Amino acid sequence: MVKLAIHEFAPSSEIDDANAMEQFQKQWRTYQKLVDSDALSHHEVADCLHGALTAIDKPFSILDIACGDAGEIKHVLADTKANHYHGIDLSEPALELAEKNLQDCPFEIDLDHGDYVEMVERRPEPADVAWCGLSIHHLKRDRKRDLLTALRKTTERFVMIYEPTLKEGETRDGYLERFRTVNRPAWTFLTDEEWQQINDHVTQCDLPETAETWLALGREAGFAKAAEVFHDRTDFYSIYRYDV
Ligand SMILES: C[S@@+](CC[C@H](N)C(=O)[O-])C[C@H]1O[C@@H](n2cnc3c(N)ncnc32)[C@H](O)[C@@H]1O
Repeated sequence: MVKLAIHEFAPSSEIDDANAMEQFQKQWRTYQKLVDSDALSHHEVADCLHGALTAIDKPFSILDIACGDAGEIKHVLADTKANHYHGIDLSEPALELAEKNLQDCPFEIDLDHGDYVEMVERRPEPADVAWCGLSIHHLKRDRKRDLLTALRKTTERFVMIYEPTLKEGETRDGYLERFRTVNRPAWTFLTDEEWQQINDHVTQCDLPETAETWLALGREAGFAKAAEVFHDRTDFYSIYRYDV
């Protein structure tokens, strides 16, 4: 029984604009190259999330904030007791891809177009599990805490997030310097233009935190337990698990 519905919660005027669509497709193709080459450790992340979800022995619902095209989650949820998947993303083109990617999944699916901060804060239905891959780091620290607090109130079991992480004592500038020094030579599969796109995005938007701060934010949000459960081989990203 598959129920697929894209609910409209944000004005979609920008996607009617051909330039915006072209921009999205360009950026998404570049991001997809990073995912396909496993530069961001998506394989191990999928294994880690899959392991946590297979440990749940009852049917469960999962909220995926910033779900993107849901390309990975389909495999993560295979062989689990997931009975409902709710994806939220600000990008309608990404959700249209998600709709295709999730087509044959044997659980109920809702896809919502909108800002996840706003939607989680006014979400009426709790989910058993909430997941976010590579997005909360765009929020300022207070908003990260607010979002985790809202997730705490609407999650029955645990929240897991995969986010960029500063080394202990590292500043944001130091992180950006390390990002460029390590990744420009490593990401040989990107053209100069694609690298520039990624570098500009990270420079303008990313607000990583130290592991200590990510864990403190979870405790301040009211979670009983906060733990770093995975640190990626490139030393840039970690998964944090917050138990209710
Ligand atoms: C780097 S992608 C991550 C996609 C996927 N979760 C993954 O791990 O590969 C970030 C996603 O966050 C979405 N996004 C960013 N800010 C958002 C917001 N405030 N509300 C909803 N989605 C947002 C973007 O549209 C994009 O699809």
